[in-house]
Amino acid sequence: MISLKNVSYKYSHSSRYALNHISIDFNKSEFVSIIGHNGSGKSTLVKIIMGILIPTEGDVYIDREKVTEDNFQDIREKFAIVFQNPDNQFVGATVEDDVAFGLENRGVPHETMKDKVESALREVGMWEFRTHEPHRLSGGQKQRVAIAGALVTDPDVLIMDESTSMLDPTGRRDILSLLKNIHKTRETTIIYITHDLTEIEDSDYAYVMRDGKIRSEGQVYEIYQDTDVLKESNLVLPFNIELSEALMNGEYMSYEELVERL
Ligand SMILES: Nc1ncnc2c1ncn2[C@@H]1O[C@H](COP(=O)(O)OP(=O)(O)OP(=O)(O)O)[C@@H](O)[C@H]1O
Ligand SMILES: [Mg+2]
Repeated sequence: MISLKNVSYKYSHSSRYALNHISIDFNKSEFVSIIGHNGSGKSTLVKIIMGILIPTEGDVYIDREKVTEDNFQDIREKFAIVFQNPDNQFVGATVEDDVAFGLENRGVPHETMKDKVESALREVGMWEFRTHEPHRLSGGQKQRVAIAGALVTDPDVLIMDESTSMLDPTGRRDILSLLKNIHKTRETTIIYITHDLTEIEDSDYAYVMRDGKIRSEGQVYEIYQDTDVLKESNLVLPFNIELSEALMNGEYMSYEELVERL
């Protein structure tokens, strides 16, 4: 569904490439994670995927269509993104106005709009907060509203760019389980960006980025087994991986398997 062919990107006035010869293929309806340390190129990569930035070299194809200066605006409508700090994204005075905003430029009739806003807010468990001010919600509630604002446009692809990094572990788990439900019920493709290896456990596929390059890719157990790459990429190994590595010679085991084996 999304295909990058040998994509490189250099910001103007920058001497180095933020992305360096990246080739990836995302399948429809996958839950894909991208992991990497600060500055590894994750946000640049999603901007390229969404057509916000046009590659310096290489090509991007969305649904087999090559992204060009002429069609990138249409292509952008297939995507929705949620950032780390939702406060920068809120535009409405109330939660429901904010969620409705995404539909306002799309010529959706008022009644349909109301229904869509209600169903998106119910989906994220925020309907009862519809008249609240977005800025006065908790961090986790803000993320839920931002997710509703993303879902209301029925995107093919939902991108979460380190959206949970300001939440505590329970808050992160709640948002991740919400995303998994969304993924299951809507079959939306989800691209989940994080630097926390514990968060990728249930992804269908994952990529590790460092210095603008893909250093490793595969199913999650393969990524977890590649501990050298993870350490070189300055990522913190989850406790079960460290323990498996120390005890079992690197064979990956989930927390439950490890407990069972021990
Ligand atoms: N607007 C910009 N102009 C110039 N250089 C930029 C710009 N945005 C990012 N960069 C550089 O590109 C590289 C990749 O940045 P990017 O934001 O994609 O990383 P990231 O993996 O998203 O990091 P983080 O985890 O901190 O969000 C970095 O070296 C960064 O300094
Ligand atoms: Mg980033």
